Amino acid sequence: MSQSNKALFIIFGGTGDLAQRKLYPSLYRLYIKGFLEEQFAVIGTARREWSDEHYQEIVRDSVKKLGGSEEQVEAFSRHFYYQSHNVKDTEHYNTLRDLSDDLDKKYDIGGNRIFYLSMSPNFFGTITSHLKSQNLVNDQGFNRVIIEKPFGTDYESSKALNDEILEAFESEELYRIDHYLGKEMVQNILAFRFSNPLIEQVWNKQFISNIQITLSEELGVEERAGYYDTSGALRDMVQNHIMQIFSLLTMEAPASFNSQEVKEKKMNVLTSLKQLSAEDVKANFVRAQYAHSNKKSLNGYLEEENVDKDSSTETYIAGKIELENDRWSGVPIYVRTGKRMAKKEAQISIVFKKSASPLYDTEETAENIITLYLGPSEGFSMTLNEKKIGMSMDTTIMKLDHLRSEGTIQESPEAYEKLLLDCLNGDRTHFAHWEEVSNSWKYVDAIRQAWDQSNEKLAQYEAGTVGPEEANELLAKDGHEWVWNPK
Ligand code: BG6
Repeated sequence: MSQSNKALFIIFGGTGDLAQRKLYPSLYRLYIKGFLEEQFAVIGTARREWSDEHYQEIVRDSVKKLGGSEEQVEAFSRHFYYQSHNVKDTEHYNTLRDLSDDLDKKYDIGGNRIFYLSMSPNFFGTITSHLKSQNLVNDQGFNRVIIEKPFGTDYESSKALNDEILEAFESEELYRIDHYLGKEMVQNILAFRFSNPLIEQVWNKQFISNIQITLSEELGVEERAGYYDTSGALRDMVQNHIMQIFSLLTMEAPASFNSQEVKEKKMNVLTSLKQLSAEDVKANFVRAQYAHSNKKSLNGYLEEENVDKDSSTETYIAGKIELENDRWSGVPIYVRTGKRMAKKEAQISIVFKKSASPLYDTEETAENIITLYLGPSEGFSMTLNEKKIGMSMDTTIMKLDHLRSEGTIQESPEAYEKLLLDCLNGDRTHFAHWEEVSNSWKYVDAIRQAWDQSNEKLAQYEAGTVGPEEANELLAKDGHEWVWNPK
């Protein structure tokens, strides 16, 4: 049963790519499902001068292929208003406040406001302080601020950013989006682990040999080089998405899905991370950059537009993360992510220890492996052994797949859709809390610092491949290999 919500959304960065690709489609899906009905409005702001009509046209374009009738698309788009806005100009906030107050009355919204900051974090502090001083923050309903990563570039800058925002808003009003936390299959990690006693019993160092998290992308840096060249894979994907997935995979069971409970359990693992010395980083992390591929006619990273020709930004990272706690000590958790790899694939493999039985201590007997496919394929697979048909008692590998059909994937809610609904409901469970963010920054800062101080050259991998050979060596040293290894 859907329940309709009341809110005024004020989107900073309303002309941007994220707004058009994700936010408007997600709001539309909530609208056709009845989570938003009549009592909502959206104000898009950005520097450009756009009319409401033009803005509504853009909104209609971004949602028209998502089902629903033409009338629904039209009616939805009529809730959208555009206000040209310079984030540094106090007077502009007064105009925005008047428009907000008018729309609040017009749609009978009751003062609920969601401020969505979809622009450079350099402006977060300026925006939030003006929202407060010019009374856009309202005392009738709720006030919630959603911010998009990057939350800073290291621990220090993220702390400064956080402190700045908290001068104007309470921490419970702040929603840090990590869209991976809204993905169906990422949320499924908890269901898979904690609703299946069969699984949870063996989810520990006694049975598990190693865990592998892969977030590989087929696309290169595209038009985002300006941002990416200062970020690299470590900050872009590890600090946030990978550390969150890692926490969900390794944390103890929370007593409920309450946001505080879940946060505490995640924090227990994040504070048990084995701290990294410069030698550990050298031994356990590989950074690399994609190189030109003649075979696939793909540019190398240094040939991409807006990339500094001497750039040493990593477009790929692989590493071994270790935890020092009862459940996990001694179990390596291998992670890797990169751009311009062979295929878009996000997956987690849990590799179990081999059978200890002398009966089946043979070459043919495989390790049991459970794979969670996070996207674009979604589902699970499990590798077991069974008896080979025939006279001998030899074994053969049996693979059980449970992959969702294309149709089911299409029907499942989008990450942003779920997260926007959670924010409307005041539920911060699937958002990143400050303690989590700050701990992951401290961890990745140690890696970054070790790299900055080292004069070792970046590894290279041919564009369109699975990554550098060094990443295979990383596992080989421990007697393991990557489960996902397309040729
Ligand atoms: C973003 C990164 O957070 O996640 C991008 O900034 C990356 O560089 C994207 O492409 C990947 O998300 P998804 O949902 O396509 O796997």
